[in-house]
Amino acid sequence: MSFEHHVEELNRRVESTLDEWLPDDAMPPRPLHRSMRYAVFNGGKRIRPLLSYATADVLGIERQSVDPIAAAIELIHCYSLVHDDLPAMDDDDLRRGKPTVHRAFDEATAILCGDALQALAFEKLANETQQAAIVGYLASACSSAGMAGGQALDLMYEATRPEQADIEHMFRLKTGALLDAAVLMPALLAGSSKNDCLALREFAESVGLAFQIIDDLLDVEGTSEQIGKPAGSDQAMDKASWPLLYGIDAAHQRSEALIQQAAESLQRLEGNTEPLRWMAQRILRRNF
Ligand code: IPE
Ligand code: IPE
Ligand code: MG
Ligand code: MG
Ligand code: MG
Repeated sequence: MSFEHHVEELNRRVESTLDEWLPDDAMPPRPLHRSMRYAVFNGGKRIRPLLSYATADVLGIERQSVDPIAAAIELIHCYSLVHDDLPAMDDDDLRRGKPTVHRAFDEATAILCGDALQALAFEKLANETQQAAIVGYLASACSSAGMAGGQALDLMYEATRPEQADIEHMFRLKTGALLDAAVLMPALLAGSSKNDCLALREFAESVGLAFQIIDDLLDVEGTSEQIGKPAGSDQAMDKASWPLLYGIDAAHQRSEALIQQAAESLQRLEGNTEPLRWMAQRILRRNF
């Protein structure tokens, strides 16, 4: 059966782990705990957990064994979105079709919400996997050499025209690093060979880069209703956006070529690559 038929069940699976992990919102400090649940249970596509489950399939390990990885990566992603939307960063009011956390609560709560989601991810991942290499890998993906570093470059590049190689480097960090971790943490858990890790890494790198180019395209071509966040936000903030700098048609071509490249990386793997192939197409064809 195609991976597509498992997507709903896998989304329920990661949401049930997240529900178990997140403190009850009746627990004080209530606004903080309410904001954490608000930031997580608001209709995200759960692309990163799905990538972890799809990787478990190719490696031939139980999906259940990657539950803590899937939930931890989604918590980190949700934290990154809460901080990304803050007035000091992208200053956006809408996320997943609802007011952003600093709008629904306040800025201080949004900062603490992100901090606490990040800490919760590491606490649970460490407790449930007991594997320093996996925890370390996620930490590095969030670091100044990963997502946080990419976010810093994103801010530095506002109102500038970086070279294509530079904007793509920024995308690899701010977005690619977490997609890479979603795929490589299951490989660490499975004790995969160097060659398998390399092929998975190349797959994740192409998909991660395509993911952000498509995100920039949706910001230009989509409506706020469709994408659940304010359309045209990149232009309003004078962001270094791939399609705005290098053209909409070229952005479509680049993302298609990257997804093709991702599919080619999978040919070097021996297991069932259909789930990851399906995920790459899912990412290319997404419209929100
Ligand atoms: C949005 O990510 C932020 C980027 C890194 C481009 P997603 O498009 O995965 O957002 P959700 O989780 O589905 O809301
Ligand atoms: C994604 O870039 C940044 C993160 C790492 C959170 P964007 O700023 O383009 O993401 P959206 O469009 O707000 O979701
Ligand atoms: Mg941003
Ligand atoms: Mg943003
Ligand atoms: Mg965007």
